[in-house]
Amino acid sequence: MTGTKIIFVIKKIGQMLNLENFDIKLNTDFIGRNFIYFEEIDSTNSYLLNKNNNIDISGTVVFAEFQTKGRGRLDRVWTSDTGQNLTFSILFVKNQNLFQNLNFLNFSAALAVSTSIENLYQLKTDLKWPNDVLLSRKKTCGILIETTSNKGVIDRVVLGIGINVNQNYFKGEYNYPPTSIRIELGKEVERERLLAEVLNNLEYYLIKLKTDKHQIINDWKMKCKMIGEKISIRQKDDIKFGIFDDIDENGFLLLKTKAGIEKITAGDLIIQ
Ligand code: BTN
Repeated sequence: MTGTKIIFVIKKIGQMLNLENFDIKLNTDFIGRNFIYFEEIDSTNSYLLNKNNNIDISGTVVFAEFQTKGRGRLDRVWTSDTGQNLTFSILFVKNQNLFQNLNFLNFSAALAVSTSIENLYQLKTDLKWPNDVLLSRKKTCGILIETTSNKGVIDRVVLGIGINVNQNYFKGEYNYPPTSIRIELGKEVERERLLAEVLNNLEYYLIKLKTDKHQIINDWKMKCKMIGEKISIRQKDDIKFGIFDDIDENGFLLLKTKAGIEKITAGDLIIQ
């Protein structure tokens, strides 16, 4: 083991991540250096959001083989078969620069996943606003950023990432068609290597966030094939139609409608 502190919380032995293999490949200063492993938990995001769990080290990764209440964006559920995929969350505390740039964290996470998949498996990824990673136009990764506040001021940020890695088929209904790396590649991949690579790349992008944050938007735009296409944006009670014009310097989507350019801060993007 190198310098990583690892805590196990195991209910029953199933298909487990090999933490030694993961640790050897981890090349970060702080992300993943405190690592909490659960065989089963309600949600890794919920665990880190709950201050009663007394986890206060920035960069702490909480990983679960199975989530009983995995959560997605817009109050959706996130389902993932046991021991096949990567479902984990990362805690950030005392990082004002990051707290003020959550859109950039979103993009950084998507880029970290996309770069890792492309480098390790030579598969072409596509990014879908605001933060999905696609393979063959199907979803292979979702990202959920949540915060807690104290007296109206953000005091912790939890970045949750779910990557479909080795799951072979998906039953049930999905808001967007899912796929996995295994399905696209035609063979199983090593989850430990992918997890370490994602955390290594994420730390790289978080350094960029301090030094050259607009590069993050540029990198993200390069990997988003939907710019220029006809899209619709589904919001709570509303659907907006237009052309995906651009991403502005703060990471918001610019939608060209008959009325002009509209800035979209949240919602679901649907290709028309
Ligand atoms: C989405 O695309 O809707 C976001 C999905 C985020 C899923 C991950 S899995 C790990 C973490 N824990 C959760 O409960 N959700 C996130």
